[in-house]
Amino acid sequence: MSKSPEFPTILAVTGWATAATVAAFVFASTGQKAAEPAPVVKPAETAAAPAPEPAPAPAPAPEPAAAVAEAEPAPAAPTAEPAAAATPVSLADITPLGLGRPALPEEIEAWDVAVLPDGTGLPVGSGDVETGNEVFGEKCAACHGDFAEGIDSWPVLAGGAGSLTDPRPVKTIGSYWPYLSTVFDYVHRSMPFGEAQTLSVDETYAITAFLLYSNGIVEDDFVLSNENFTSIVMPNAEGFYVDDRPVTEYPLFSGEPCMENCRTAAPQVTKRAVDLNVTPLDPDGKPAGTLPVITLAATGTATDPATPEAAPATETATAPEATAEPAPVELAEATPAPAEPVAEPVATGDAGDAALIAEGEKVFRKCASCHKVGEGAKNGVGPVLNGIVGAPMARVEGFAYSASLADMGAKGGVWDAAALQAFLENPKGYVKGTKMSFAGLKKPEERDAVIAYLGTLKGP
Ligand code: HEC
Ligand code: HEC
Repeated sequence: MSKSPEFPTILAVTGWATAATVAAFVFASTGQKAAEPAPVVKPAETAAAPAPEPAPAPAPAPEPAAAVAEAEPAPAAPTAEPAAAATPVSLADITPLGLGRPALPEEIEAWDVAVLPDGTGLPVGSGDVETGNEVFGEKCAACHGDFAEGIDSWPVLAGGAGSLTDPRPVKTIGSYWPYLSTVFDYVHRSMPFGEAQTLSVDETYAITAFLLYSNGIVEDDFVLSNENFTSIVMPNAEGFYVDDRPVTEYPLFSGEPCMENCRTAAPQVTKRAVDLNVTPLDPDGKPAGTLPVITLAATGTATDPATPEAAPATETATAPEATAEPAPVELAEATPAPAEPVAEPVATGDAGDAALIAEGEKVFRKCASCHKVGEGAKNGVGPVLNGIVGAPMARVEGFAYSASLADMGAKGGVWDAAALQAFLENPKGYVKGTKMSFAGLKKPEERDAVIAYLGTLKGP
């Protein structure tokens, strides 16, 4: 090959992967000539191919064979061939196996279509934007769009300026390609897709001019030729640099690896999955994998969720009774009939309790705009509050709790009387970051009352 495929390894500022792609593409396209004999029969009209060729279409045999057949009908090719070439070469010098023959200069020239950034390899010719527009419309627009904008998922060839640092950069000839020679070479060599190398040199110049125009690099009266080709500087020409990894990265990975006591500081939990909202919810509305409520389990009997509700409700609503009877007895009594205890205090409460509950129902008007209660109640601005006393925090299914409250629930927090007191007195103080925009109930009597009332509401 007369033109060496020695491109510098180039790296895109925007990322290694793309750089690798570009480098691979450049190497693959130049290397192809050496590796493959003749995958495509070159059409005679291609200016760069003056080699004497047989009729292009029907010949199934690769070019070299055809050329030999034409030049030399006798099998004694080796002896006659050197005579045709300028310098006599013995076949044995070139191939010890005695296969093949040296490529003819014309054959080499026909394949040697690489165009390098410095203009080496450019064929003589020219083309203007307008012609390019026409040819592009005819041969390329079906896939790349009339304005090179790309149809469906075919590559977009224009636009994307300034997008290289975006998470999803639009890499086009204008925004990304460093050299115009790549455009000419690529189009001339491989487009239109499926009909590679059917474009004439002038058509390729014209298309290249049009692509420059669609990328806003030249005006519409521009004429591109082999003469002015290298005067075009592509917008991203400076966006590539020579591979400096041996200097910048190698030392980082080639030192002695630390194998023990490598940590310099104690590990810190900086964020929890619940905060990031990546933990799915269980059917009960709690973050998946939430452990059973430990505070209740500790009281002894309570593994049945219906039972724990009874205890705090009883405590708050019927405080005098609770003091009279020890708690364990309460629970033992409650166990045989779990449904009863919640309702019990209401039904059997004395006059004082009833008054407190009635008072609480009034206080609850302050809550009612956000919280629904009773049978068939639905979540509103706030969650349904049925059965809230003694229930785990943030347990209502289908309600989007604040991360903070969800977190407290996940850690086993329970709305016992003390928690409700604290929360209702100062919601934002008790649950930092709560979604409950409510100033709080400053009067202790109001809190007592509303908690007593909440205790009467049967829960799910
Ligand atoms: C049948 C559809 C089709 C037609 C027609 C076609 N192309 Fe393409 N073009 C493609 C596909 C597919 C690719 C991507 C090829 C690849 O990545 O290997 C491509 C890639 C390109 C690229 C490189 C884009 C990039 O950013 O990597 C250029 C430049 C190009 N085509 C120009 C042309 C020109 C000029 C014509 C008309 C002469 C043309 N194409 C006709 C389908 C087509
Ligand atoms: C402006 C609307 C609004 C008002 C008024 C309001 N809340 Fe809330 N409440 C909410 C929201 C929203 C939440 C959910 C909080 C969170 O996720 O952080 C909530 C949560 C709660 C919870 C915890 C529920 C659970 O399942 O964990 C209780 C208990 C509660 N509110 C009681 C009350 C009471 C009692 C009142 C009246 C004194 C009241 N709220 C007034 C909006 C409100």
